[in-house]
Amino acid sequence: VAADAFDPDDLIDDVCVVLLAGGSGERLGSTRPKAFVGLGGKVLLAHSLEVFEAHEAVDSIVLVVPPEWEGPAEVLVDDLGCERVSSIETGGSSRAASVQAALAAVPDRRGTAVLVHDAARPGVTPAVIERVLGPLAEGFDVVVPVLSVADTIKRVHPESGEILETVDRVLLRRAQTPQACRASALHAALRDLGERELGALTDCASAIESIDGRGTTVPGDDALAKVTTPADLAALERVYGAGSAGEHADGDEDSDEDLDEHDLAGHGDFP
Ligand code: CTP
Ligand code: MG
Repeated sequence: VAADAFDPDDLIDDVCVVLLAGGSGERLGSTRPKAFVGLGGKVLLAHSLEVFEAHEAVDSIVLVVPPEWEGPAEVLVDDLGCERVSSIETGGSSRAASVQAALAAVPDRRGTAVLVHDAARPGVTPAVIERVLGPLAEGFDVVVPVLSVADTIKRVHPESGEILETVDRVLLRRAQTPQACRASALHAALRDLGERELGALTDCASAIESIDGRGTTVPGDDALAKVTTPADLAALERVYGAGSAGEHADGDEDSDEDLDEHDLAGHGDFP
């Protein structure tokens, strides 16, 4: 669906990133929160943080971390020299609750874009940041990077597994992050939601859809895949410089040394 004609009110003059690192990483099963485990010689969270910090469109970054990880997060931000991190917030009991907590540090205005990103997706690129920001200026309230679905999808009975129907794959997309939201729309969508309603939301777009916001999609990227399980992390460790984290654990690289000092590198988490 095409947006309406050009409207100066739609223009974006401020871009704020909400970087979500507030989860515990239960399925990964590490001793520390998922965003703080090591990948390629730095913590998982550092990969996306550095990409946003370096992008000229980004004005500020709100980092959301689990309770008691605010201190280590501050050390990490200092070590990486991230000057755009404006605030470190304590996460909530669900992903959407963590987004709601972050909004305390995001202006409630139409001209501000909020890029909500999972720290568990280390492969964010400047190109996808630019792709999701584009349609906001055309009047959309939320823009989601998506991938098509390669497998045939069946709708089944949740207990018996009996096939109910085959869903038309052409209509389906897999949603990734960063999702770009108009700040005023995200504030309106989450403002009055309680813990239970927040727990049922799986992305920001669905909250904005539920208040009749206008959403659209842009191409995502395989590189944006989320780290969920130990197998995901092991596969990425091969991509991000095979085993370098373990080999440099003595601190013969500056970045490793800094992280080790504060026990943030997470080397001990690898088999
Ligand atoms: N997240 C968050 N606050 C929460 C839950 C999740 O900020 N209460 C963030 C995670 O840190 C992650 C992203 O949302 O970057 C996607 O969530 P997910 O992959 O499910 O991470 P976890 O919830 O940490 O993992 P798990 O579900 O296995 O416990
Ligand atoms: Mg989770």
